[in-house]
Amino acid sequence: MSPMTAVPSPAAPEAFDAVDVIVTKRDKGELGDQQIDWVIDAYTRGVVAEEQMSALAMAVLLNGMTRREIARWTAAMIASGERMDFSSLSRPTADKHSTGGVGDKITLPLAPLVAACGVAVPQLSGRGLGHTGGTLDKLESIPGWRAQLTNSEMLRQLEQVGAVICAAGAGLAPADKKLYALRDVTGTVEAIPLIASSIMSKKIAEGTGSLVLDVKVGSGAFMKDVPRAQELARTMVELGTGAGVRTVAVLTNMQTPLGLTAGNALEVRESVEVLAGGGPPDVVELTLVLAREMLSAAGREDLDPADALADGRAMDVWRRMIAAQGGDPDAPLPWAKHTHEVWAPADGVLTQLDALKVGMAAWRLGAGRARKEDPVQASAGIVMHAKPGAVLRGGDPLITLHTDTPERFERALAALEGAWFIAPEGSRPDLLPLVIDRIG
Ligand code: URA
Repeated sequence: MSPMTAVPSPAAPEAFDAVDVIVTKRDKGELGDQQIDWVIDAYTRGVVAEEQMSALAMAVLLNGMTRREIARWTAAMIASGERMDFSSLSRPTADKHSTGGVGDKITLPLAPLVAACGVAVPQLSGRGLGHTGGTLDKLESIPGWRAQLTNSEMLRQLEQVGAVICAAGAGLAPADKKLYALRDVTGTVEAIPLIASSIMSKKIAEGTGSLVLDVKVGSGAFMKDVPRAQELARTMVELGTGAGVRTVAVLTNMQTPLGLTAGNALEVRESVEVLAGGGPPDVVELTLVLAREMLSAAGREDLDPADALADGRAMDVWRRMIAAQGGDPDAPLPWAKHTHEVWAPADGVLTQLDALKVGMAAWRLGAGRARKEDPVQASAGIVMHAKPGAVLRGGDPLITLHTDTPERFERALAALEGAWFIAPEGSRPDLLPLVIDRIG
C-alpha cells in the first residue's frame, strides 16, 4: 500500500491574466473596472510580478488613461489598505499636499496656523528623495521629535492640539508604496494618471474632509510647464471631489526656490521666523494663500489666518505640536560644521536662481538622500542671500553652502554651475507669479 500523500489544494484561479492587461494598454485600449481591481490587488499580493507591473506602468505613461480608468485605479489603490476616519473629531479637517519643490517648508508654519483657526490638520508626510526635501526629514532636525505615531495617538493630538505632522503608516494604500518604488526605478514617475492616483489614493485613504493641493510648476518641480500642471491639478481635483473630499488646487511657482533656505534644520529655522511674524515674503504669502484655501474648503472662510499669525496663536500651536511628538521647541537646532560662501561676480540684477540646481546642490551637501534608506544631514543645505529681482554689487554674498562633510563642496558647486544669472542694472527677471492658477 502506498503511503498517503497530502495533495495540495489547487490555488483559486486568477480572474485575469497580467499579460492580457498589459497588452490591452500597450495597444491603447481601455482597461475594464474588474481588470483594474484585479491588477492592483494581484500586484499587492505578489501575483502580478514586478516586471509585469513595470511594463503596465510604461504602457500607461505612453498611452494614458481615461478619467474613468484613473478613478477606478485610485479606488483600487485605496482598497488595498486601511482608511482612516476623523469623523469623531469636534472640528472639521483640512489637509494640504504639495507635489514637491526646493525650499518648500510651507507645511511647517501652515499646519499650526490653520489649527490655530479651529480647523484640524492631519498631515501624513513623507521623506525626501532626490532633490526635493521631505517634511519629516526637516522636523527630525528638532531634538527629540518623532515621526511615528499610532492612529490613536494621532487622533488624540488632533483633538487636543489641532495639528499633526507624522509618517503615513504602512497600512495606508500599500499598493501605492510598492508601485511608487517601482516607478522610481523604471522611468515611469512622470505619468499624470499614475501621479494623480498615487497622491489622491493616500489623501483619500487618510480621511481628511477637505484638501488643498499645491501643484508646483517649474525647473524644481515634477511638472515643468503650466499646461501639464493644469492637467495634473484638474485630474486630482476631480478624483478628490468624486470621492467626497472638498478639493481645490493652486498652481505655484517652482522656477526658483521658496524662501531663502533649502535644507532640513535651515528650513525649520526659517519656518519658525515666519511663525514669529518675520520670514521671507514669498513664504509668508504662500502660507497665507494656502491657509485661506484650507479654511474656506473646511467652511471657515470667515476667518483671516493673518490674525492668528500676527498675534502668536500659530506659534503657540507649533510649540504644542512639536512637544506632543517628543520634540523640544526651545532646543537649539544643529548648525553645519563647515560653510562655503559664493559672492556675486559682478554688479547687476539677479534675474535667475534656478530651483533644480539649488536643490541638487543642497542634496549633494547631504540634505537629501539617493536611496530611501540613506541618512540625511540635519544641518546641510543652502542659504540664499538674494532672490531674483535683487540688485547686487560685485562681491556681495550670493549663497552660502552648509555641510558637516566639506569634501562635498566640490560636487555641490558643480551642481550650481549656471544656477544664477546677473543681468545689467535696470533688467527685470522674467518669472511666473508666485500663484499661477487656481483650479477647483
Ligand atoms: N508624490 C506621490 O506621492 N506620488 C507620485 O506619484 C508623485 C509624487
